[in-house]
Amino acid sequence: MFNAEKFIQEQIAKVRDEVKGKAIIAASGGVDSTVCAALVVKALGDRLLAVYVDTGFMRKGETETVDKMLRKLGVNHIVVDASDEYFAALKGVIEPEKKRKIIGEKFIRVFEREARKSGAEYLVQGTIAPDWIESGGGLRDTIKSHHNVGGLPEDMDLKLIEPLRDLYKDEVRKVARALKIEVAEKQPFPGPALAIRVMGEPTRESVEIVREACSIVEDEIEKASSEGKMKLPWQYFAVLLPVRSVGVQGDIRAYGYTIAVRAVDSVDAMTAVYSKIPHDVLETISTRITNKMKDKVNRVVYDVTDKPPATIEWE
Ligand code: XMP
Repeated sequence: MFNAEKFIQEQIAKVRDEVKGKAIIAASGGVDSTVCAALVVKALGDRLLAVYVDTGFMRKGETETVDKMLRKLGVNHIVVDASDEYFAALKGVIEPEKKRKIIGEKFIRVFEREARKSGAEYLVQGTIAPDWIESGGGLRDTIKSHHNVGGLPEDMDLKLIEPLRDLYKDEVRKVARALKIEVAEKQPFPGPALAIRVMGEPTRESVEIVREACSIVEDEIEKASSEGKMKLPWQYFAVLLPVRSVGVQGDIRAYGYTIAVRAVDSVDAMTAVYSKIPHDVLETISTRITNKMKDKVNRVVYDVTDKPPATIEWE
């Protein structure tokens, strides 16, 4: 049986022993990097610097939430607003793989810059067992280039510290609970964030639409599940489609965008089935989205595809 308390004590002692200078970590607000930061700060205190990069693709209120959480955990951190750089780099880019590559590379450049400024000699990464097991074989097809803040360049000349290397997700969650971290039960979120939930070029405007739609989907589904109307799906979000369709707003013809709602149940993200959300919940989601963004969105559809043949995210 995995003992989270014992694991925490062992890792604190190990990091304290190994790390003599300053260390840096890319904090994303996700479970792995947050657990890592909370663990390592116990060993290093102010010698650990967490860097949170605001790409402009974060969910509603996310930057503020992560900032608050790191403060509460006593982690010395900075929030870097790199949104202008990201939007500029993605200008005119619509191909999903290209988007992912640009976002991944940009992240590395921004992080490198901060690492150099901080004078850190160590890089703390929230790599967990499936990350290196899955990438080791080279037998699997690249379906999507996953971007993880964990995947930083090897040429950074920083010594790697990976306290969660031997853990699986359920064990990381146990450690999170033992450390009293609120992210423990959060749904998964892709590294490239809302940029891959906008089909086509991510602009400030299109990302804002999907940000609002995602927030409504999360809100309504969490409400319905807490009221016992449905089980909380494994993952649930909105996607902005690049096609426009004709609608009617008051008496006037509208020509707006479509939001697709996606909710799935899965165990390991390798396969997934779409969630059978009650129709009244879908209806409330649809009404709220089209009311909130009257001049932009006039149609909401529900994705009823499993994985395979689809994937969970649309890009
Ligand atoms: P797909 O869309 O491939 O997604 O069925 C499987 C799971 O992975 C998440 N996802 C990512 N996670 N970096 C991540 O850390 C990424 O680049 C990335 N892309 C997709 C997705 O949200 C789902 O939970």
